[in-house]
Amino acid sequence: MLQQVTGEIRTVSHLLHPPLLDEVGLESALRWYVEGFAERSKVSVNLELPEDLERLPQECELTLFRVVQECLTNIHRHSGSSTATVRISRNDTEAKLEVKDDGRGMSQKRQMEIYSGESSGVGLRGMRERVRQIGGRLGIQSSAIGTSITVVLPLAAKTRTANESR
Ligand SMILES: Nc1ncnc2c1ncn2[C@@H]1O[C@H](COP(=O)(O)OP(=O)(O)OP(=O)(O)O)[C@@H](O)[C@H]1O
Ligand SMILES: [Mg+2]
Repeated sequence: MLQQVTGEIRTVSHLLHPPLLDEVGLESALRWYVEGFAERSKVSVNLELPEDLERLPQECELTLFRVVQECLTNIHRHSGSSTATVRISRNDTEAKLEVKDDGRGMSQKRQMEIYSGESSGVGLRGMRERVRQIGGRLGIQSSAIGTSITVVLPLAAKTRTANESR
């Protein structure tokens, strides 16, 4: 029982707070998070990071970290997939993230509900809003053989204000 409780406390603290992020940067924080997630969930995660990722603006790093957390949690809870891929790439103007699984996917109807804000879950909707607030886009591609969530964030361009992105 003690082991189970300790495990749960670790899970909750992982989900609530990325303490390493500001200090060590997205790359190390992701490696640490993904390792813990894979251990807890038994989903085997393939993390693909570019050699030249370097540090991104704080808001971008936090957003990407949060999206990875939400997507991996969704994969564990909803997809039935035993594998996942997290892939990041960047150039001077954009950072791109893809989180992919080989699970059961979600119906067209469910995807429409998420896009229109009618979905009961707040995870993907909240992530989409968060990405939009810093001028990026979040896309969902899903079929019976898996789901892919993509995020593109501008790096150099002006960040849109919450009002402009509505
Ligand atoms: N990787 C996935 N594979 C299959 N279905 C998914 C996947 N990710 C999300 N879904 C479906 O999309 C719905 C919406 O996801 P979302 O993250 O917005 O909400 P949630 O996970 O149900 O709840 P919350 O995130 O608020 O705790 C899920 O309920 C699930 O049906
Ligand atoms: Mg969710």
